[in-house]
Amino acid sequence: MAQETTTSDDWREAGEAWGDRATDWAYLWEPYARSANRAVFDQLAVADGTRLLDIACGSGFAAHLASERGAAVSGIDASEGLVTIARARTPKGDFRVGDMFALPFIDASFDAATSFNGIWKGCEAALLEARRVLAPGGRLGLTFWGQFEHLGLLPYFVKVIELSEASHAAANVEHGDTQNVIEAMLTATGFERLERGTVTVVNEWPDIEIAVRALVSAGPSVPAIRAVGLDHFCDALRTVIEPMHIPGVGIRITSEFDWITACSRQSPLQSA
Ligand SMILES: C[S@@+](CC[C@H](N)C(=O)[O-])C[C@H]1O[C@@H](n2cnc3c(N)ncnc32)[C@H](O)[C@@H]1O
Repeated sequence: MAQETTTSDDWREAGEAWGDRATDWAYLWEPYARSANRAVFDQLAVADGTRLLDIACGSGFAAHLASERGAAVSGIDASEGLVTIARARTPKGDFRVGDMFALPFIDASFDAATSFNGIWKGCEAALLEARRVLAPGGRLGLTFWGQFEHLGLLPYFVKVIELSEASHAAANVEHGDTQNVIEAMLTATGFERLERGTVTVVNEWPDIEIAVRALVSAGPSVPAIRAVGLDHFCDALRTVIEPMHIPGVGIRITSEFDWITACSRQSPLQSA
């Protein structure tokens, strides 16, 4: 059964932030993770007929890649705007607006569950829900930011942290720590780690203005925009991006994702 999580309205707030500029996020940013999407789907052997749930699916770019492999895809995200785009990208998918801490799916209904930079430090309750909806033998695949030294987007995050209120800044720093705690989180929620690796992702934008537009659309930008105003925030981002611009090439920012796969540990009763 779904656990009795007391869900506050936090997920709705997160959804509003991520949905503020949904089309910009969907088309100017989300495809940057395709190498990570593919790596995880390869690890999970996502193929024809796989019943896949993508948790915090955003605008459904990853789910669409899985659907091209023949998977029967479902997704959930807090942002109505992003889910609307996911439905347009993959009309035969089942995409829901909702909370990953209270998944609206029945027990044991998926062969694989993924979350691309959607489950962070402190989200154990979301892992318990993922475990609940996975069928016996089902597998989980997650990605999150890798080492800071390999995070080309670090100057963006530093600027966001500098300009946001302290509580939002702290949340960003906590997210960055997921790589160090994910294995303990998986163990604590009944998963057994399978494989772990890293993959490079690339943000590509043709010019500074489009790069700024893309960066503004990410959820972490919203608290900074609220704190200092959109114009000030965009000016600050231009100073971050300008040194990265190469005439004739545009802007290419490489970062590292860590990925990890796991399967549900069987209880002694299940394995008997
Ligand atoms: C970093 S984005 C990742 C989106 C997508 N997975 C991708 O690869 O681009 C984080 C996503 O988590 C969603 N989100 C945040 N809190 C959530 C919650 N409690 N339940 C469901 N989705 C949530 C946001 O709306 C946003 O789309």
